[in-house]
Amino acid sequence: MIAPHSVIRWSDALLLGVDFVDHDHQEAVETINRMAALAVDGKDLTAEMTAFRQHCQEHFAREEDMMARTGFFAIEPHSDEHHRVLAEADGIIAKLRAGESCLDYFTEALPQWFLEHRATMDFVTADFARERGWTSAA
Ligand SMILES: [Fe+2]
Ligand SMILES: [Fe+2]
Repeated sequence: MIAPHSVIRWSDALLLGVDFVDHDHQEAVETINRMAALAVDGKDLTAEMTAFRQHCQEHFAREEDMMARTGFFAIEPHSDEHHRVLAEADGIIAKLRAGESCLDYFTEALPQWFLEHRATMDFVTADFARERGWTSAA
């Protein structure tokens, strides 16, 4: 039996008040939901996951630039976590190429990770940046 997959429902409750962060996160949620549904259907996700890793790399770089420019106090653990996730994504892509489905990753681990990361490290980072007067144009 295939476990029901998690669907992240996008709503204003997920907004963090920094334009590029919210825009990237909304895009990530759409992709995560789409990949979970495809995984349940047994589809090959190599191309989607490769594109999603690129999305993450670019998004993480934007967050890290904001952290550096605002003098965020926890830039190291937040950046380390980004690097860990990119390495994990590389491992998943390798498994997909080898023919594994990685179903649990797409239906549980990845949606759960997104929600936790948004609610902790990204939340604190965005809050700090806004307090420091960060604007989209900065
Ligand atoms: Fe983020
Ligand atoms: Fe982040």
